[in-house]
Amino acid sequence: MAEHPPYPVGLRLLGRRVVVLGGGQVAQRRLPALIAAGADIRLVSPEATPSVEAMADAGEITWLRRPYQDGDLADAWYALIASSDSEANAAASAEAERHRVWCVRSDDADAATAWTPATGHSEGVTVAVLTTEAKGRDPRHTAAVRDAVVEGLRDGTLVAPHHRTRTPGVALVGGGPGDPDLITVRGRRLLAEADVVIADRLGPRDLLAELPPHVEVIDAAKIPYGRYMAQEAINNALIEHARQGKSVVRLKGGDPFVFGRGMEEVQALAEAGIACTVVPGISSSISVPGAAGIPVTHRGVAHEFTVVSGHVAPDDERSLVDWPSLAGLTGTLVILMGVDKIGKIAETLVAHGKAPDTPVALVQEGTTAAQRRVDATLATVAETVRAEDVRPPAVIVIGPVVKEGPRPDA
Ligand SMILES: C[S@@+](CC[C@H](N)C(=O)[O-])C[C@H]1O[C@@H](n2cnc3c(N)ncnc32)[C@H](O)[C@@H]1O
Repeated sequence: MAEHPPYPVGLRLLGRRVVVLGGGQVAQRRLPALIAAGADIRLVSPEATPSVEAMADAGEITWLRRPYQDGDLADAWYALIASSDSEANAAASAEAERHRVWCVRSDDADAATAWTPATGHSEGVTVAVLTTEAKGRDPRHTAAVRDAVVEGLRDGTLVAPHHRTRTPGVALVGGGPGDPDLITVRGRRLLAEADVVIADRLGPRDLLAELPPHVEVIDAAKIPYGRYMAQEAINNALIEHARQGKSVVRLKGGDPFVFGRGMEEVQALAEAGIACTVVPGISSSISVPGAAGIPVTHRGVAHEFTVVSGHVAPDDERSLVDWPSLAGLTGTLVILMGVDKIGKIAETLVAHGKAPDTPVALVQEGTTAAQRRVDATLATVAETVRAEDVRPPAVIVIGPVVKEGPRPDA
């Protein structure tokens, strides 16, 4: 066999009959890909696992609840033989041979006329890995090779630029709360393909160090304009680089659309006629409390959570937040950008009826090596922030959920 390795091919199964013998774990693992390929799947088996049964109930496969019968493979293009009845497997395999149906056997790779590769997908590419001989088959090794390739493509450590589909333009990428592992797979891949990266102060800054030397990294926080002009300067930088035909990644902390001014950048790019894709990110509003052991909801404790910006005080005329209504809610309040104003915020919530002993937690630099959690109540939080020198960036959580769960950093 080693001299005659299997011939790799991609079967296009849309609307074509595929017969699966046996409704156990092997079928359960293989069926989703056959369904995704659009095959007309006929499962022959007296029994099936609950997941396989659910596929039949959903109409994704046709299930014949009986043992194999001669003739079952008559209209098949492809067969997967995976029942626990070895006689039936052998008989079905012989029928497949007679009808020239390519046939995979889970019980006997030698007798099979086809082998299933270990497969994975990454952005429009299917990676399929096969061993070259039946005897030395090591499914764990093929799966490990597949994982290495797919993971490498996903996280950008294996760089395979898209020569045909890679188009210049801007990707607005949510980088997550800070831990470099918490960016999305798509975000990481776009970062690996970028010519220019414009990054914020928050987010996974460690990833910038991994970029190849030819990538131009622009620190958005250092763009030399006043506070008011900064956003316009960032928009201009995005437009300028994209117009030079470069692949530009705008790397933002958390999710671009959660207090991230992402839509302003999308609008500026649209006005300039520049293509822009938006990649969501894990927002600090949920992940940072979670990293400190605080669930923003908990069964029987909180049925809602509200994410609020605390960058202006409640009595500031620019505030768009209805603090009196928030004081009346029973769920969780999550406040971003609120460290400076937490005293006023706590005072306002209490003035409108929230209990002064409502638990509060401040999680500073969540998901990073410097993560720190400080607990207080609405009555004590202003003093605690001062005494403990809590500094931005921090997420503030107010409500009974603060008391749930173990504290990972305690
Ligand atoms: C301008 S907002 C951006 C929010 C971001 N778009 C998101 O979805 O997480 C910045 C605020 O997010 C919070 N924040 C972001 N990353 C954080 C982190 N790692 N730890 C604590 N707070 C964080 C802080 O409240 C910070 O002041």
